[in-house]
Amino acid sequence: MFDDVAPKYDVVNDVLSMGQTRRWRKIVVEAMDVKAGQRVLDLAAGTGTSSEPYADAGIDVVACDFSLGMLKVGKRRRPDIDFVAGDATRLPFADNTFDASTISFGLRNVNEPKRALTEMLRVTKPGGRLVIAEFSQPVVPLWRTMYTEYLMRALPAIAVKVSSNPDAYVYLAESIRAWPDQDHLAAWLQEAGWENVTYRNLSGGIVAVHRAQKPLAGPAAGAAALAAGTGPVSRLRRNITRPAR
Ligand SMILES: C[S@@+](CC[C@H](N)C(=O)[O-])C[C@H]1O[C@@H](n2cnc3c(N)ncnc32)[C@H](O)[C@@H]1O
Repeated sequence: MFDDVAPKYDVVNDVLSMGQTRRWRKIVVEAMDVKAGQRVLDLAAGTGTSSEPYADAGIDVVACDFSLGMLKVGKRRRPDIDFVAGDATRLPFADNTFDASTISFGLRNVNEPKRALTEMLRVTKPGGRLVIAEFSQPVVPLWRTMYTEYLMRALPAIAVKVSSNPDAYVYLAESIRAWPDQDHLAAWLQEAGWENVTYRNLSGGIVAVHRAQKPLAGPAAGAAALAAGTGPVSRLRRNITRPAR
């Protein structure tokens, strides 16, 4: 499916999000807080649009995706970026490779998202950061209703006019509705072993940006606690910090 939408992927995104994607992406880069010379994994990078700001800032970014169609479009546009073919659930990188990892609008598309969270933990250095941008649940009920109407009715209709594969946007709408809300994703992160989990709602919760850190002490401490039955999700949830804005 992603191979099919690759050629017009970025233009269609801008139209369907009414220009909001640019603002969301800027906030993701700020949340990563990485410096020139550091190594960053941008997972499910697609055509590399989410990787570009890092490359532009002199950061050594690896754009990884399993769609060769998306990678091809990306490489043609930005030959300077290191595009790597790889599956999020079985990353082709050694343990503790990256100073920080990120995934923008991709985790929802991965067949086994929890496994991708564990894989990102493995390849990130101890103390390193994870930032996830993903569609989420608007928090105010009226806004949620309006947004759901847009998703289920207007978006597929617009997609017929602007996309070569409108069915992909029906899938997009359905996958967003089926995706866990902000707290639920935060709990998944903690289950996978990430700590200091926070999130910030953008556009009233249409998108959430989750931030987390790999423990310094050792890999997958949270996952080990969970396996041992000492870290139930209910207790983990109480430790999730929501930033003020
Ligand atoms: C909506 S695009 C996001 C692309 C980019 N991050 C952005 O912000 O524009 C989602 C991407 O996830 C990729 N993807 C889905 N499942 C994957 C997996 N298991 N491993 C790697 N990439 C995957 C798709 O190929 C697609 O390029």
